[in-house]
Amino acid sequence: MTLQNDALNTLYTRRAKITQHISPEKLAAMHAKGMLSARERIDNLFAVGTFQELGMHAHHNAVSFGMAGRELPTDGVITGTGYVGNMQVAAFSQDFQVLAGTMGKMQARKIVRLMRHALRVGVPMVAFKDSGGARIQEGVDALSGYGDVFYYNVMLSGVVPQIAVVLGPCAGGAAYSPVLMDFVIMTRHNAYMFLTGPEVIKAVTGRTTTMDEVGSAEMHASVSGNVHFIAEDDHHAIALVKNLLSYLPQNNTEDPPHDLSVPIQEMVDVGIRDLVPDDSSDPLDMHAVIRRLVDRGEMLEVHASFARNVIVGFARISGVVVGVVANNPMVMAGALDLDAADKIARFVRTCNVYNIPLLTLVDVPGFLPGIEQERGGIIRHGAKMLHAFASATVPKLTVILRKSYGGSYLAMCSQEMRADMVYAWPSAEIAVMGAEAAVKILYRKELKEAPERKAELTRQYRDEFASPYAAAANFYITDVIDPADTRWTLALALRKTLGKRELRPGKKHGNMPL
Ligand code: HXC
Repeated sequence: MTLQNDALNTLYTRRAKITQHISPEKLAAMHAKGMLSARERIDNLFAVGTFQELGMHAHHNAVSFGMAGRELPTDGVITGTGYVGNMQVAAFSQDFQVLAGTMGKMQARKIVRLMRHALRVGVPMVAFKDSGGARIQEGVDALSGYGDVFYYNVMLSGVVPQIAVVLGPCAGGAAYSPVLMDFVIMTRHNAYMFLTGPEVIKAVTGRTTTMDEVGSAEMHASVSGNVHFIAEDDHHAIALVKNLLSYLPQNNTEDPPHDLSVPIQEMVDVGIRDLVPDDSSDPLDMHAVIRRLVDRGEMLEVHASFARNVIVGFARISGVVVGVVANNPMVMAGALDLDAADKIARFVRTCNVYNIPLLTLVDVPGFLPGIEQERGGIIRHGAKMLHAFASATVPKLTVILRKSYGGSYLAMCSQEMRADMVYAWPSAEIAVMGAEAAVKILYRKELKEAPERKAELTRQYRDEFASPYAAAANFYITDVIDPADTRWTLALALRKTLGKRELRPGKKHGNMPL
């Protein structure tokens, strides 16, 4: 009995040493900055009593240079599984309070073991990143560890959802792990991410820069596009993880969490008609349209600050999870440019691998004309959209609200990209180009002689060549619908296409223009 008591005593003492190694003062200072400890992050993610740690006692045998006699609880990373709602999730959390959360051989082994569990069992991975990078004392072992983690990031890609949450430093090659995952969340004030920081940039290029300019959440969310969501603090970041998981399946063999118990009833929304401005050159408020189409007006917008000329995000329509892709006419008239094409192509592929139906809402004047666009490779970037939409085998519904011109008509998931249903509002204009530009080219001579005929010819062009009925007469459009019926039409069409199965020629993978 005494022996057992001693043994239990040892167990609990060891556990306490590992789990409570941060002083209350240090913890309070972290909380004051909106940060949680590595273990608190795990505790806040999982339902109470569901977390099971893997390898709590594993750590590097700290005898090498500068580490002799050092305690390295959990080797600077907490790894394990738990439940978020009904969903099993695997998570690791780097502990900056243990040698700056740096990665060495054992830390990598712990992370890889967890990733293999996620892969075998088919559960999402969440990675809390807060680390000084490769543990210098462990040399090539640290580099090799990173290599293994990257390899498993790629193995998991498209099999289970992977969410990176950057809550502290993430520098050097370490930054590749988050961007190899499906989504990156980053806190606004405490995190930074770069390959080479200000000091190295100064030494190599002579140019002076700041951490904010090359590594802040704000920069990555709005300029580089590396980050999908900015969180105000750690609690907000964890709330975003949970919100994101609520739209995702456990793995690629399962459906996302549709709620098919929601009955579909006739839903007529006459108010949505007022969102179409009378003048076709006035921009339509696409966010307002989306709010009226989706359940409770709720959409989790992804990449909200990046390429704001387009909108992508997750929502539900009568309980069915959809990935919404839309032009945003309020920014650059909703035209497609380099970043917009990347944003859409990436999102479409994410939805496709996780069996999430796509809803594309179109009001697009075209690809953005410009020297920078052409020299930047808009042909290659725009082609990513065609490749992504054409490759996607999930249900694809498209609604053309207003303009849909030229190549952008095809790039916004027209019938030719094998959209299952293409609806058009009566205000839709589907043509090679806008009416005014077309009339200028087609009627140059007539307009020279009688410039007053411009309005009449423009009207005539709209009716004859650009009308949704012209497209519908050729069966490029499934139906022309009253905007008031859109939500109901989509709810029905989604249920009816959910069982879609499409076989494609066997191949390793397509060769998307990157
Ligand atoms: C080993 C490290 C370390 C590292 C920090 N420490 N970084 N130990 N390897 N990479 C140790 C410190 O010596 C210190 O130990 C403790 O962790 C806390 O670090 P501080 O510097 O006191 O903390 P702070 O002031 O908050 O600064 C944190 C930091 C800074 C910004 C992360 O430590 C730093 O710049 N570290 C170097 C980061 C770096 O260059 N990493 C390599 C990136 S390249 P004591 O004994 O004082 O407690 C990379 C390659 C990946 O990662 C390759 C993948 C392919």
